[in-house]
Amino acid sequence: MKLKVFPQVYEPREDSYLMLRVVNCKIGEKVLDMGCGTGIIGIKAALQKANVLAIDINKQAVKNTIYNAKLNNVKIKAIACNLFSGLNKTIKFNKIFFNPPYIAEEPKDIYTFSWAAGEKMQIVLEFLEELPNFLSKNGKCYIIISSCGKPEKILRKIKEIGFCFNVIASQRFFFEEIKLLEIF
Ligand SMILES: C[S@@+](CC[C@H](N)C(=O)[O-])C[C@H]1O[C@@H](n2cnc3c(N)ncnc32)[C@H](O)[C@@H]1O
Repeated sequence: MKLKVFPQVYEPREDSYLMLRVVNCKIGEKVLDMGCGTGIIGIKAALQKANVLAIDINKQAVKNTIYNAKLNNVKIKAIACNLFSGLNKTIKFNKIFFNPPYIAEEPKDIYTFSWAAGEKMQIVLEFLEELPNFLSKNGKCYIIISSCGKPEKILRKIKEIGFCFNVIASQRFFFEEIKLLEIF
């Protein structure tokens, strides 16, 4: 995949590549790439011929995703909005991928939304609250969590919304461990 990274857009790193490994979509599946950044996740799904919608709160990320989709000769619809706020609740996705901001600190500007989820992890909690409205029956959601982002709170929230999860991949760094969850 060819990727250009626009200024103020999250450059793909370990978390992006951990998630990229599990992108395995069927032809025509409806896929949401939430927090698309450069579009790396959605573009892989589109290359597998999924029908992809990408969302980011950062307008530069939306432009970057559209640019990179063209670079890779795939079509992706991309919109700028806060989480699911731009979507009609009748839309359901077979797969939702979210490599979210996963550090428990306050975002200061649009770029820091790349990693800062709020001190109480509000962005991830709000995403999970809305998730049941947008996941199709038997649909799956893939999300990254971090030891630096109140993981116990997030796992509790998943149970509260009536979903189950499996840890399907993880990576340990000097100061942090990230895990990739499959939610269903
Ligand atoms: C860790 S980056 C991941 C980017 C890309 N998906 C990747 O894996 O490289 C998180 C992305 O989520 C976006 N984001 C943060 N808060 C958001 C929100 N409330 N609604 C939509 N996107 C959001 C950020 O702007 C950023 O592009």
